[in-house]
Amino acid sequence: MIPFVDLRSQYKDIEDNVKKRLHKVLEHGQYILGPEVEELETKLAKFTGSDFCVGVSSGTDALLMALVALDVGPGDEVIVPNFSFFATAEVVAILGAKPIFVDVNRDDFLIDWKEVVKNISSKTKAIIAVSLYGQCPDFDQIEKAIDGKNISIIEDGAQSFGSSYKGKKSCSISTISCTSFFPSKPLGCYGDGGACFTNNKKIATTLKELRVHGQSKKYYHGRIGINGRLDTIQAAVLLEKLEIFDEEIKLRNNIAKKYSEELHFLVKTQKIHEYNTTVFAQYTILIEERDKFLNFMKDQKIPTTIHYPLPLSKQPALSKYAQNLTENSEYLTQRVISLPISPYLKKEHQERVIESIKKFKKTTGKMQSCNKFFENSKL
Ligand SMILES: Cc1ncc(COP(=O)(O)O)c(C=O)c1O
Repeated sequence: MIPFVDLRSQYKDIEDNVKKRLHKVLEHGQYILGPEVEELETKLAKFTGSDFCVGVSSGTDALLMALVALDVGPGDEVIVPNFSFFATAEVVAILGAKPIFVDVNRDDFLIDWKEVVKNISSKTKAIIAVSLYGQCPDFDQIEKAIDGKNISIIEDGAQSFGSSYKGKKSCSISTISCTSFFPSKPLGCYGDGGACFTNNKKIATTLKELRVHGQSKKYYHGRIGINGRLDTIQAAVLLEKLEIFDEEIKLRNNIAKKYSEELHFLVKTQKIHEYNTTVFAQYTILIEERDKFLNFMKDQKIPTTIHYPLPLSKQPALSKYAQNLTENSEYLTQRVISLPISPYLKKEHQERVIESIKKFKKTTGKMQSCNKFFENSKL
């Protein structure tokens, strides 16, 4: 079976060093906020070019604490793209604020800044801009859309750590940026983990308090927080994985390039802007007869995943907030399908995936008009 994300091969490559790092943690025994957490935060801040990094328990908690740090609560509105993972909007609802779902662009699948402009109201407190599948949205245009208003931008960079927008690293661009270290993410740990990034010292201090029950010093709680710390053991794993991360990004891009070269005349995929680099958290194509395709790939023993099958506003838990018609989000959720990708995807496995898609296209006899994926890309 072809692995959808090959974490075992990665582990085999780094096994000795990971074990050494873990052994060190077991020896010093500081499992909560041990020295590895601060070492990692320093390295991640440097990697992104942000002033501050705060290691937290997951990408979801990173988003939640970012909203709390910006004082988002009941009566506030937060603009989110309607095409994303559930957590992007879930955190808004948890705090009693209202998610405002706006549409994405049909070509790059990212939040449409023109829709942001249309949906700003006197209640808008923040915009969560999602860097979907590893590519950042057009932050300059989103900044312009805010037009000097007191609205914060949060980057949901759960999928994009390591990518860049106009030469700036993802997670260094917004008021607060959030990422996830879920195992299958481009930089993933061996459990749950995440981080917040900011250049604002006050926000960084608030985030550090929020992750320890709002504690400013031991057993003094100035605000309501959560238990939202990154585990020392996960930080140790991430320190080791960071050593090979740049090389892994190159490998991901090579695999994506091969998919694009072989498939661009057969299927549509996410447009990558010339001002962006991406980490291909997912390599996602659009397929008209998706159910048929899913069954076909299953028969070929090729794993595929749908990221994501519903617009957020159609999720039962969020449907009460539904407002706008978001045609592109509808269109994409009905057609997207992600192919196996990871730095360790074997050549012969990728060839099997490509051959299967070609075979499917031949049997259905349908050719789509396709964007030339790498037309403007620097890759
Ligand atoms: C876009 C997006 N936001 C938020 C999250 C939440 O991250 P985590 O699973 O670490 O809580 C994810 C994780 O899949 C994600 O893809």
